[in-house]
Amino acid sequence: MSKVRAAITGVGGYVPDYILTNQELETMVETSDEWITSRTGIKERRILKGENLGVSYMGAKAVQNMIAKTGIDPKEIDLIIFATITPDMPFPAAANLVAAEVGAVNAFSFDVGAACSGFIYALTTGAQFIESGAYKKVVVIGGDKMSAILDYTDRTTCIIFGDGAGCVLLEPTTEDVGIVDSIHKSDGTGAQFLHMKAGGSRIPATHESVDARQHFVYQEGSAVFKFAVTNMADFAAKIMDRNKLKADDIAWLAPHQANKRIIDATASRMGITEDKVMMNIERYGNTTGGTIPLLLWDYEKKLKKGDNLVIAAFGGGFTWGAIYVKWAYDSK
Ligand code: UT7
Repeated sequence: MSKVRAAITGVGGYVPDYILTNQELETMVETSDEWITSRTGIKERRILKGENLGVSYMGAKAVQNMIAKTGIDPKEIDLIIFATITPDMPFPAAANLVAAEVGAVNAFSFDVGAACSGFIYALTTGAQFIESGAYKKVVVIGGDKMSAILDYTDRTTCIIFGDGAGCVLLEPTTEDVGIVDSIHKSDGTGAQFLHMKAGGSRIPATHESVDARQHFVYQEGSAVFKFAVTNMADFAAKIMDRNKLKADDIAWLAPHQANKRIIDATASRMGITEDKVMMNIERYGNTTGGTIPLLLWDYEKKLKKGDNLVIAAFGGGFTWGAIYVKWAYDSK
């Protein structure tokens, strides 16, 4: 009997309506459209406005979009995994809230916290439940409401991130498609360069922690940049080698959207041209857990059954990895 693989059989996405442009940011902090565009490739990002709306709102919208496109019954969903570092609240998990919202009454659900690599970690995790034969329908969501943890007086971080969520449906296949291979790594010594100081068990929220602006993203950009450029490119190259993939065999690179310069360096290391690189950083910025499913959502119509995709990410932790996927369907 052929090996069972997890195939991506549907994609959904959601981005909020409000567009925060570089021009508007120029009125908020000392920056310029020219600096942001040349250093990051970002022109605008989406922001979730509205009382009491957390990341689960966007995750549920993305799953509902996928359900409408694939026609599956939410009651058939066995498992929902949500990659996010901005859950609505410390508990319950955002995935639990999404399951309730979309009517996935037979599912169990949990969150994965691995910052910008969250979606690839969750995708590999979800795939294991399919490959083992345990489950038939697994939904993997990635998304973040980064605007909830950004200091809009800090020009080094607030220009980078945005809000959004995307998801994929995983189902078993015995055809030669699906998630073929994945490699992941993490290194907690990188925590010093990218973290949020307070709000966890080490420094619970106090008046002092709020006054000290410790509930926001802290990033030493150039240090993170050096690790990101090397590790994302290394792992993309490694997964190619391990699967004997030449540049010509690859239809698409789906890279985490943190910085256009990191994406270009990864593509160049793989020897692939710009026309094969999925990119939407100019419109959404860095949505952390959301970048990769939002790329698949944007590019779904261009993907063909059998296309070789390399997905690669690097993020806070540090965390990083790469996944080799053979696309499983032609878009209708
Ligand atoms: O997705 C999770 C992982 N995160 C990443 O992969 C992010 C990796 N890092 C980066 O993408 C880049 O480091 C940044 C985009 C964050 C920053 O770009 P950079 O080229 O590394 O700039 P820098 O931090 O070295 O700063 C260069 C200069 C500094 O001024 P001085 O000290 O040279 O006078 C900054 O103060 O640019 C200044 N600067 C700004 N200027 C205008 C920093 N932010 C801004 C800004 N507008 N928004």
